[in-house]
Amino acid sequence: MPNWLSSPSARAWTAPAGGGSARDFHRSLPGYARTPLVELPTLAAELGAGRVLVKDESSRLGLPAFKVLGASWACHQMLSREPGSELVTATDGNHGRAVARMASHFGVAATVFVPEVMLPETAAAIEAEGAQVVRLDVGYDEAVLAASAYSVESDGRALVQDTAWEGYTEVPAWIVDGYRTLLEEVDEQLGGTPDLVAVPVGVGSLAEAVVRHHRRNDAPHPSVLSVEPDTAACVLASLHAGEPVKVATGSTVMAGLNCGAVSSSAWPVLRDGCDAAVAVTDSEARRAVADLGMLGVSSGPSGAATLAGVRAALTDPVRRAALDLPPDPVVVLLSTEGDPI
Ligand SMILES: Cc1ncc(COP(=O)(O)O)c(C=O)c1O
Repeated sequence: MPNWLSSPSARAWTAPAGGGSARDFHRSLPGYARTPLVELPTLAAELGAGRVLVKDESSRLGLPAFKVLGASWACHQMLSREPGSELVTATDGNHGRAVARMASHFGVAATVFVPEVMLPETAAAIEAEGAQVVRLDVGYDEAVLAASAYSVESDGRALVQDTAWEGYTEVPAWIVDGYRTLLEEVDEQLGGTPDLVAVPVGVGSLAEAVVRHHRRNDAPHPSVLSVEPDTAACVLASLHAGEPVKVATGSTVMAGLNCGAVSSSAWPVLRDGCDAAVAVTDSEARRAVADLGMLGVSSGPSGAATLAGVRAALTDPVRRAALDLPPDPVVVLLSTEGDPI
C-alpha cells in the first residue's frame, strides 16, 4: 500500500454542526491552563514554511498527553447520567490513564484493559492513578472488545471508550467534543487559522475533532494531514479502499497510534474532509522526537509523528502541491504527548 494519499475535494467539504463545547467544564478543573503553542523557526526554514508552531501537550491537566480533554468531559457526562458507576475502558496508554485519573477525581472505581504490547511502566502509571489494570494477551482492538463485554456483564459499570462502533457512538462523540478545547486554544493563540494542521491518528477521534473544527460552515478551511505509523495505518488503508478496513498491528514506538481499526464515527468525517494521509516509520518518528527535544519541546513518538509526517509531505514536491498551500504557509503540528524519557 502506498504510504500517501491526498483527497482534493476534502477542503471544500463542510461538516454538519457538531456537539456542545466542553471548554467551560475544562476551565472548572483544577490546573486547567492553555498548553503552549511554540514557534520553531528552525523547522520553518527546513520545511520551507512561513511559520511552524507546535501545540505542546506534554503537560495537560497534570498528565503528559492531550487525552484527558476527551476523557474528562466524557466521564463527567457519563457520571451525571449514571452517578457512582465504575468507569471501564481499554487503552494503548494515555486514554486509560486519563480515565483512571478522572475516576479518582470523581471518587469512583476504574477498570482499564490493556494490550499485551504495553510497556510495564505505562501500565504501572495507570495503576498508580488507583485503577484496576487488566492485562490481556491481545492487541488494542481486542482489548476494546473485552472492555465492552466486561462493562455489560454487571450493572453499575459504564464504558468510556474513545472509539465508536455500530451502536456505541454517544460516548466517543463526547470525547471528540472534549478535544475541541485544544483546537479552540490554537486559534486563540494564533489569532487566526493555520494553513496546515498535522494530526497524529490512532482510531481517528482526534482527527475527527480537527476535521470537524476546520470544516465549519463559517470558518476558513485549512489543509488537514493525518499521520499514522506505517505498521498501523488503518485510516490510510481505509481511504485507499474507500471503506473502513482493519489492518493487522504489531508493535511501534508510536504506542498511542497503534490501532488497527478506524472509529466508525470518525470514518465518514475523515473520508469526506481530510486532505491527505501519510504513514511514517518508527525511525522517522524517533528522529522527530530527538529534533523536537533539541529545540526544547518534550514530545513522545506519538506526538512527534506529526513532524515526521509533515517532513514526508512537504519535502516531496508532488505531495506538497497536492496540499495546495499558500506561499509561506503557517503550519501547526499537534504534539499530543510529552517524551517519557
Ligand atoms: C499521544 C497520542 N496522540 C494521538 C493519539 C491518537 O488519537 P486517536 O486515537 O483519537 O486517533 C493518541 C491515542 O491514544 C495518543 O495517545
